[in-house]
Amino acid sequence: EVKSDLYCTQQEDVQQLLKPRRKFSHKGTYGHALLLCGGYGKIGAAVLAARACLRSGIGLLTVQVPQAGYPILQTAVPEAMTLTDKNRKHLSELPQEMEKYSVIGIGPGIGTERVTKTTIGQLLATASFPIVIDADAINLIASSEKLKGQLYKRKLIFTPHPKEFERLVGKVKNDYDRLQHLREFCLEYGCYVILKGSHTAVGTPEGKVYFNTTGNPGLATGGTGDVLTGIITALVGQQYTLEEACRIGVFVHGLAADLALQTIGEISMTASDVIDSLPSAFLHLT
Ligand code: APR
Ligand code: MG
Repeated sequence: EVKSDLYCTQQEDVQQLLKPRRKFSHKGTYGHALLLCGGYGKIGAAVLAARACLRSGIGLLTVQVPQAGYPILQTAVPEAMTLTDKNRKHLSELPQEMEKYSVIGIGPGIGTERVTKTTIGQLLATASFPIVIDADAINLIASSEKLKGQLYKRKLIFTPHPKEFERLVGKVKNDYDRLQHLREFCLEYGCYVILKGSHTAVGTPEGKVYFNTTGNPGLATGGTGDVLTGIITALVGQQYTLEEACRIGVFVHGLAADLALQTIGEISMTASDVIDSLPSAFLHLT
């Protein structure tokens, strides 16, 4: 039995945690994020994560996509610098000059090719900065004992939905069991896990669990997870602690969806609508 403390993240908490931008600051003050997202047929995942990242305060953003994604990214997200992989369809290599980034977000839309798995191994072996790990990056790590062995003593945030979480920790019997696995995984690897769902929970390496209090079923649509990855990556890049980034990020993501309810409603809500409501959500909190 793992001991743990349960908390809720409320609006007042997030208001206290959010730091105003400083007058004598510049884009270098707010971090340089690298997103390794998108694959053939799923370049949209990179677009969504990139747009959410930019709407969440990052100073500079570089996105690396497979060659097929280059014109799409440059057109859909002109604010982002775009690098191309030598591979046309899949993530197959790390960019040069990795030192210049303050955070990496990896996973949305990347697929599960063997060459992509190798690249994740290289990333875990070299990166000293924090990594936000989502979607197929989680699935690839879950399928490899070697990659799992590389997770120790790194600054990592995993953002699994319940199925991805089960791939990481094994079959879960019920909600209580899921919570136990969450604490155990975070303790074992010394990492943070954002376990997504209608009641998203953030697990920390100290055994704390923070339940989120925003969000609605309008979020049950493809791409909203990619948006969360972009938000969390931006917050880590701005030097919020990993715990702060997780708590602020899930709260703002849910709040944006709650604000979108008023004009869009839950039936018509799309991931892009959540991004479009991020400005109102951040305004609401400052
Ligand atoms: N209430 C509140 N929030 C919800 C609800 C709900 N009923 N349903 C979903 N959400 C939120 C989750 O908390 C999470 O933040 O929406 C987001 C969904 O994220 P994902 O499950 O990662 O979905 P997404 O990645 O956008 O789309 C599905 O994931 O499994 C892969 O390959 C699959 O491409 C697919 C993609
Ligand atoms: Mg997802």
